[in-house]
Amino acid sequence: MDRAAGAGGRQEAGPLSDILAGQPADPMLLAEIYDLEHDAMDDDLGFYREIARRHPGPTIDLGCGSGRLFGPMLAGGAHRIVGIDGSASLLERARARIDGDPHLSAAMAAGRIELVVGDVRRIRRPDRCSLAVLAGVVAHLDGPEDALRALVAARRLLAADGVLVVDTLGPGGLPPHDLPLSLDWERVEGGRRVVRRSKLERREAPEGLRVSYVTLTDVVRADGTIARLPASFRLWYPSPTALVALATEAELVVESVFGSHDLDPLDEDSERCIVVARPATADPGKE
Ligand SMILES: C[S@@+](CC[C@H](N)C(=O)[O-])C[C@H]1O[C@@H](n2cnc3c(N)ncnc32)[C@H](O)[C@@H]1O
Repeated sequence: MDRAAGAGGRQEAGPLSDILAGQPADPMLLAEIYDLEHDAMDDDLGFYREIARRHPGPTIDLGCGSGRLFGPMLAGGAHRIVGIDGSASLLERARARIDGDPHLSAAMAAGRIELVVGDVRRIRRPDRCSLAVLAGVVAHLDGPEDALRALVAARRLLAADGVLVVDTLGPGGLPPHDLPLSLDWERVEGGRRVVRRSKLERREAPEGLRVSYVTLTDVVRADGTIARLPASFRLWYPSPTALVALATEAELVVESVFGSHDLDPLDEDSERCIVVARPATADPGKE
């Protein structure tokens, strides 16, 4: 996997782009737990298959994590997928997912999947894509300035007729109040019991909802010993209006805003906010 990001030469991923770095727990183990948790989320896979079918061609998955969306996007029509993530540990998990899936392995062997450690706020590449995706990533950026950087960087990766999908929580999906430390889930996986607890504090801010999310995961091994993995994340959820305004500022034209992966219109109860946008200019790669 490349530790660089394209035409602009080598580009180090700063600590802010690696959500697992700096946590007081082994990043590989955290990445494994991340997979366990995120792979259970599959209600968006049909949406990504369909969006890839509508915009076939080179595709870039910005903040791809462990490559959960690669399979659906290849099945839909992505000719080639570049998966960018700030976390080398999550890209290792993507590599393991590819190795364990014959379709993904064949695509990788044919040069149709590329994994790159990089920062979505600064990514530069010479190639242009027909589809760029920022799924679940905006929440991890530090607020409007970083989101604008990521949107401008995404626009510059698009072909003139390319499309960017920004997928984040909608107003109805946001926590309505603080949540005290509670049990989230418990699973048995590979002979180990995994117990996840979390707590959450929210703060309304002019730029959207700020959330401090602390997780505590216990991995109980067969011999009874416990690996305790604490982690904390600062999350940010812009309002749909703020997200659309940022897209416009990034010289994107918003084509549609959906409130679900079933393409329901967005309203105040919508659990998702999915913005589909195109470059406003004929030369999306411009500064
Ligand atoms: C909630 S996960 C979503 C992963 C994937 N898009 C999916 O839907 O399964 C957010 C991802 O964004 C990545 N990320 C956050 N900030 C980033 C940044 N500045 N540059 C690159 N990746 C980033 C994280 O490492 C993580 O993999």
